[in-house]
Amino acid sequence: MITAYLAADGFSEQLQEELRRAGAVVTHRHERLFVCEGPAVAAAWAANIWHDCRELAVESIGSAAKALRDIQRNWAMYAPLHHRRAALIQERLPHVSAKPIAFPAKAPTAMLGSWTLLAPDRVLAAATCSSPFANGELVFIEDKAGPPNRAYLKLWEALVRLGRWPMPGERCLDLGASPGGWTWVLAALGAEVIAVDKAPLDPKVLAMPNVSWRGESAFALEPASVGAVDWLCSDIACYPARLLRLVETWRSSGLVRNFVCTIKFQGETDHESAAAFAAIPGARVLHLHHNKHELTFLLIR
Ligand SMILES: C[S@@+](CC[C@H](N)C(=O)[O-])C[C@H]1O[C@@H](n2cnc3c(N)ncnc32)[C@H](O)[C@@H]1O
Repeated sequence: MITAYLAADGFSEQLQEELRRAGAVVTHRHERLFVCEGPAVAAAWAANIWHDCRELAVESIGSAAKALRDIQRNWAMYAPLHHRRAALIQERLPHVSAKPIAFPAKAPTAMLGSWTLLAPDRVLAAATCSSPFANGELVFIEDKAGPPNRAYLKLWEALVRLGRWPMPGERCLDLGASPGGWTWVLAALGAEVIAVDKAPLDPKVLAMPNVSWRGESAFALEPASVGAVDWLCSDIACYPARLLRLVETWRSSGLVRNFVCTIKFQGETDHESAAAFAAIPGARVLHLHHNKHELTFLLIR
């Protein structure tokens, strides 16, 4: 069995190290795509995982397109090399809509395969992939007026990937909230938001009727002083190990139903902490298209 991992753009080194730690054997590297022997291993730095890949010998552009169409309808191209030839093949495949998403919306459910030209006469194709988006790239219709910054796109993406988001009236704790992009997302969904940050919120966000602000350190916050929350969101700028301790404190309090937290790395990537987050039962750790040198930890009940 062959599995291929497409590194998030700019994070090939992180993926390579993650695969090495997981014991995956890379047999070939095709730019950002790491082709490995064996079934898939967990790979947070992969924007997309191509399951059960097949290699197809193709004599012509037409025969390559036919071979792909014979497998299934929907295909996304990854073409770091042989780009012109690959584009001519993709043109002969059924059109797949790549319209930007209007949040809130569920991810598409139609199967989207991935393919690439390893050589002009050799296609690597996977009918089943981990992401429903072409090369793992989720694009939104952006809101240029409401949020105070672009951090809201990260939370939108996390919630689309979960297929769930806070409902009106649910209680959300937003840690590291300033200037308020995430708080704006949560409040716009109708949730009650407690925003925590020593730095202030943008006045427009603070003025939203269901938003309150606590100007204190998230690490000094006693869970009992907040009570039960449906969603704990954190985008705090801090070391991963410190965030892990905070998550453990709130998990053991039993007061939180769902977690969405950004794990931020400064300088070196802390693979041990990332693995510790991934080892929490039920957790998912992903690199989102809108993430920088960071991962997103999701724990949903
Ligand atoms: C990337 S910004 C958050 C952006 C925010 N999610 C948004 O959408 O606008 C990181 C924030 O973490 C906050 N932060 C750093 N240490 C903190 C702490 N101990 N407690 C609370 N917030 C903290 C910073 O003040 C900063 O506002």
